[in-house]
Amino acid sequence: MEKKFKRTTVTSALPYANGPVHIGHLAGVYVPADIYVRYLRLKKEDVIFIGGSDEHGVPITIRAKKEGVTPQDIVDRYHYLIKDSFEKFGISFDIYSRTTSQTHKELASQIFRTIYDKGGFIEQTSEQYYDEEAHQFLADRYITGECPHCHSEGAYGDQCEKCGTSLSPADLINPKSTISGTRPLMKETKHWYLPLDQHEAWLRQWILEDHKEWRPNVYGQCKSWLDMGLQPRAVSRDLDWGIPVPVEGAEGKVLYVWFDAPIGYISNTKELLPDSWETWWKDPESRLIHFIGKDNIVFHCIVFPAILKAEGSYILPDNVPGNEFLNLEGDKISTSRNWAVWLHEYLEDLPGKQDVLRYVLTANAPETKDNDFTWKDFQARNNNELVAIYGNFVNRALILTHKYFDGKVPALSELTVYDKETLKEFADVKIQVERLLDVFKFRDAQKEAMNLARIGNKYLADTEPWKLAKTDMERVGTILNISLQLVANLAIAFEPFLPFSSQRLRDMLNMTSFDWTQLGQTDLLTTGHILNKAELLFEKIEDSAIEAQVQKLLDTKKANEEANYKANPVRENINFDDFTKLDIRVGTVLECQKVPKADKLLQFKIDDGLEKRTILSGIAQYYKPEELVGKQVCFIANLAPRKIKGIVSEGMILSAENPDGSLSVIMPQKEVKPGSEVK
Ligand code: MF3
Ligand code: ZN
Repeated sequence: MEKKFKRTTVTSALPYANGPVHIGHLAGVYVPADIYVRYLRLKKEDVIFIGGSDEHGVPITIRAKKEGVTPQDIVDRYHYLIKDSFEKFGISFDIYSRTTSQTHKELASQIFRTIYDKGGFIEQTSEQYYDEEAHQFLADRYITGECPHCHSEGAYGDQCEKCGTSLSPADLINPKSTISGTRPLMKETKHWYLPLDQHEAWLRQWILEDHKEWRPNVYGQCKSWLDMGLQPRAVSRDLDWGIPVPVEGAEGKVLYVWFDAPIGYISNTKELLPDSWETWWKDPESRLIHFIGKDNIVFHCIVFPAILKAEGSYILPDNVPGNEFLNLEGDKISTSRNWAVWLHEYLEDLPGKQDVLRYVLTANAPETKDNDFTWKDFQARNNNELVAIYGNFVNRALILTHKYFDGKVPALSELTVYDKETLKEFADVKIQVERLLDVFKFRDAQKEAMNLARIGNKYLADTEPWKLAKTDMERVGTILNISLQLVANLAIAFEPFLPFSSQRLRDMLNMTSFDWTQLGQTDLLTTGHILNKAELLFEKIEDSAIEAQVQKLLDTKKANEEANYKANPVRENINFDDFTKLDIRVGTVLECQKVPKADKLLQFKIDDGLEKRTILSGIAQYYKPEELVGKQVCFIANLAPRKIKGIVSEGMILSAENPDGSLSVIMPQKEVKPGSEVK
């Protein structure tokens, strides 16, 4: 049952204004959203495209403190940098505003207040760490201490970055406030909670039954959240950066960043359209689409819809095209390790090549699984596809027209069977591209658009008009007419994907009218129409440019390794006796399973040569339990047993740690008898 919508509100996740944006952001959210919006605009549909910066939250305050500036300074710096990068990449927002705007503060408070007045929150008092010297409650990230699992220092209140275990502040041994350095005390504090458990029933129906068409990764994540059962979620925080909780007795408390940020989509619409914003958010004939990355799925599919529902007057998203992650040269993109291609740096290093990056990121879009960006692939796609196929075809068609017909579109005479087949083939492309864009398959859609250029290239190669020029100008005219119609079609088909190139191509073609309905038509350029000067649409990228980028990454890697080594130097010498105290043995994994409610931990049953031992290990992010069953591992056999998450762990499995924190289990190179000593 197809619902008919009158207009579409498209949002793209509001990036945190605490750092610049990189190719991962572009690939996961902004390029696909922009393609979709440009496509709807070309179809003359009513659409708005909402963006903006997310300017609240704890990481911004931490960054500010580190630099000795105010949070406002931080967000001002990055908001403008991010906005500028998006603009330069042609991300065609109708508005790019920010969550520190007055409009947003008012609307977010108002929505909170409406839900509050309806009794949509529950109030609950709990104990949290309080810094008596600084007179404030401490966010999880503001507390450090010893990790109760791996006993390393400097674990945060929400996570130990050494062993990866998620923690809550009360788990830390010897907690310390990072603000004053003193030991914080437990103190009662009141917060407001959104009772997600009360929303579970309609969310199940709405997502699991009514939106089976959502992408499998998005649907699957929602299902697993819903199946685990939803819990009330705090929507306020004790913090001095954010929007004050607009109720009595809430001094010093602000709205949780994930409460206010998505409301930013609405506030920014209001700023754009002060008189008609409500139509885009409340009229059931408006369709809402959120473009996001996978780490945002639960907030956009469960939390935000529950907020909107609790408020009562808003529509819910119709689809949430969430992407997986893009890696860079085989490693996870990381802001703190500077492992990224930053957009503002790309623009400097490879000026004028925005479309190339857009093309490569879409060709490699992490739509169904994580994907990898490599500079080699970037170069190959530019040289072998954009230059050799698209650019080459366009250039030949235009140059030949200038050469033989003075830049005027030649007349069409009698068509051969092959001509007709070619014309028919490119009429089909429109249907294919549409079909794919309508279901958010951008990568396949772009491939289809590229097929048009392949058809054109083949057509010219097969008909060889340059050979006919001496004998049959009429035939040459026909071939070039058809080719030019194809070029005009390419300009339209690629507009959503490669807007800068399409604009240039339109200029070269001197094309005035331009919309999606023309796609597939074979009379876009009339006989006698005068073309403008031809220029190269794409340029080959030389090895040297690619090597420079690769070198930049190698330098980053080297700097990281040095920093890592400095932070982790070889420890003081020990004597042989110290070494022999350590009893390391080999065991065979009999069973392995995930530990419920501990996303990092695996529980092992190990044959240690004598009996079965239980050992817990924080490697669940890096191994599937079934991969390890039957394998031999090394473990410390004489480590005093410790209780972790209520389970007694009798030893420790040895793994090697990469600089990025990922772990690789140590295994003997040949099978040995269980219980064999490692020496
Ligand atoms: N700032 C968040 C992130 O980068 C995304 C916020 S999306 C919004 O993960 F909906 F909250 F705006
Ligand atoms: Zn730890």
